[in-house]
Amino acid sequence: MNQLALVTGATSGIGRAFAERLAADGYDLIVTGRREDRLAEFAAAHPDVRVRTVAADLSTDDGIDTLAALCAAEPLTMLVNNAGVAHYMPLAQLPAAKAGELVHVKVGAPTMLTRAAVGGMQERGGGRIVNVAGMIAFSGPADASVLPRRAVYAGSLAYLVALSQTLNAELEGTGVRVQVLCPGVVASEFHERQGLDLSAVPRMAAADVVTASLRGFELGEVVTAPGVEEAGLLDAVFRADLAAFGGQSPELASRYR
Ligand SMILES: NC(=O)c1ccc[n+]([C@@H]2O[C@H](COP(=O)([O-])OP(=O)(O)OC[C@H]3O[C@@H](n4cnc5c(N)ncnc54)[C@H](OP(=O)(O)O)[C@@H]3O)[C@@H](O)[C@H]2O)c1
Repeated sequence: MNQLALVTGATSGIGRAFAERLAADGYDLIVTGRREDRLAEFAAAHPDVRVRTVAADLSTDDGIDTLAALCAAEPLTMLVNNAGVAHYMPLAQLPAAKAGELVHVKVGAPTMLTRAAVGGMQERGGGRIVNVAGMIAFSGPADASVLPRRAVYAGSLAYLVALSQTLNAELEGTGVRVQVLCPGVVASEFHERQGLDLSAVPRMAAADVVTASLRGFELGEVVTAPGVEEAGLLDAVFRADLAAFGGQSPELASRYR
């Protein structure tokens, strides 16, 4: 039996590139997104593997429930939580509906799909879960002058980093691996959807992001950053996180007295 992967946001960009690569590697696929024409087009273009198309809107509870049910029922070997929107805007101006959409798609959906998939993967003794975040997860300490206003988006990516690291540790010894994938700027429809023209900015190809993800698993990485040449930079971040975490005590720190 072929391996089976479910990819969210498979209608364009990084998700589409994942679906293409996994199909080329002989995976059967469940491809999802809202644009049904693109899902059908993908299926028609890949007659050599089984492709199931499921249209679902991950900004809704119904959409998340539909895909979570599939994740629980199907013998997935890989889950790629990739769907995303950015909605860069100062928080006070971000319409509540857009904030809710972002949190549903980037936080709620990966959480509930991962939760649904992971039990079966453990029972079967293996599986891989990719949560697509981004380098913006690490941008929080940056000065306001260099950052566009995007607190909810940045927060959603940081959530995926903590979720993936913590869950990967929880799953140690089960054969199930979790990766958080952190690209920089990637050529896709992501920015033009929100009216930003980044065509003049050097951007990584989506296919390279996928190559990094698959190789990252082979390297045993939990955090895979396709555009960071010096892997030690990330190790230093995590060592510092752990040092700060371990540096706490129940005593009120003297600078607050
Ligand atoms: N592009 C970058 O520079 C960049 C950098 C770092 C991280 N990322 C992350 O990479 C992921 C993929 O983005 P991309 O660059 O490939 O952008 P993209 O080309 O715009 O693709 C986004 C995908 O998400 C799906 N999606 C969006 N809203 C959805 C919803 N409500 N329900 C279901 N699916 C939805 C879209 O499908 P439908 O429209 O058909 O629903 C589409 O397939 C995102 O999560 C993003 O945070 C992107």
